[in-house]
Amino acid sequence: MKTQNKIPSWEITSETVYMNRRKFLREAGLVTAGGVAAMALPGQLMAGDGELKTVPGPFSTDEAPNSWEDITTYNNFYEFGTGKDDPHKNARDFVTRPWSVRISGECDKPGDYDFEDIIAPHTLEDRVYRHRCVEAWSMVVPWVGFPLGDLLKRFGPNSDAKFVRFKTLKDPEQMPGQRRPVLQWPYVEGLTIAEAMHPLTLMVVGVYGKTLPNQNGAPLRLITPWKYGFKGIKSIVEIEFTNRQPGTSWEIANPREYGFYANVNPEVDHPRWSQARERRIGAGIFDEKQPTLMFNGYAEEVAELYAGLDLRKNY
Ligand code: MTE
Repeated sequence: MKTQNKIPSWEITSETVYMNRRKFLREAGLVTAGGVAAMALPGQLMAGDGELKTVPGPFSTDEAPNSWEDITTYNNFYEFGTGKDDPHKNARDFVTRPWSVRISGECDKPGDYDFEDIIAPHTLEDRVYRHRCVEAWSMVVPWVGFPLGDLLKRFGPNSDAKFVRFKTLKDPEQMPGQRRPVLQWPYVEGLTIAEAMHPLTLMVVGVYGKTLPNQNGAPLRLITPWKYGFKGIKSIVEIEFTNRQPGTSWEIANPREYGFYANVNPEVDHPRWSQARERRIGAGIFDEKQPTLMFNGYAEEVAELYAGLDLRKNY
């Protein structure tokens, strides 16, 4: 981890601007306006000064967000290397425009959609979520996104749409990590349709009020905050509705250690380490450990999805 005094000035600025902006949002109940519009997202979603136009979303935790530095330099994105600081170094030149997302499988409106058309109709929300990695560390991240369910409904899933499968771009030219068989490429993930439609489940396009940095999964990634971080597939190019439980990258690589559900559960240890506690990145020089919460603290919202399911077997 880098120390605080190495933060480049533009990174400090984006964090400070964000904090001031949140204060403003809270006090005025408004979005910011004016400034020079950056065209990173469709115009109507930009507030100016490179900021996204957002509204405060539900479910945010009051815990203090991690710094921009933590969130953008301590990453897992194996397409750009297996080290925590590889993605921010190796994803710098990753080209994310133009970008299109294929919608396929059990739905009325399959097709290839431009990224802009995917997000244009949605209202972007600020949602500060706990982010718990299976490696027993955690962060608090101020994501910008919109409910995945709102997107999925636009394509008219039919009654055979029992699961949703997501796929990341496969492009070894741009993604040096894909030149080695560390995982089966492309990275794939999946949710049940009920999980995908849950209002906590977020299609993420930004962090700290700005468009998503490449290392965090630009231009579009998934976040299911009650599950381990590996469910949060990055740089999505395909969303498929299917009637069969899809294989997922980590489960395919090592089914004994990683399951399809991947719900944060302090009572079910990973075969090689305990999940009872977590190390909050940036918490202090000793990165003190704290108890892990069932469903990462979102039990009230999501426990009912798993009524009757043995969470020790379905890990
Ligand atoms: N998505 C892709 N395509 N490739 C990856 O290697 N890593 C996952 C997930 N999404 C990964 C991915 C893992 S293990 C974690 S913990 C989170 O991304 C990390 O997200 P963050 O770097 O934004 O914190």
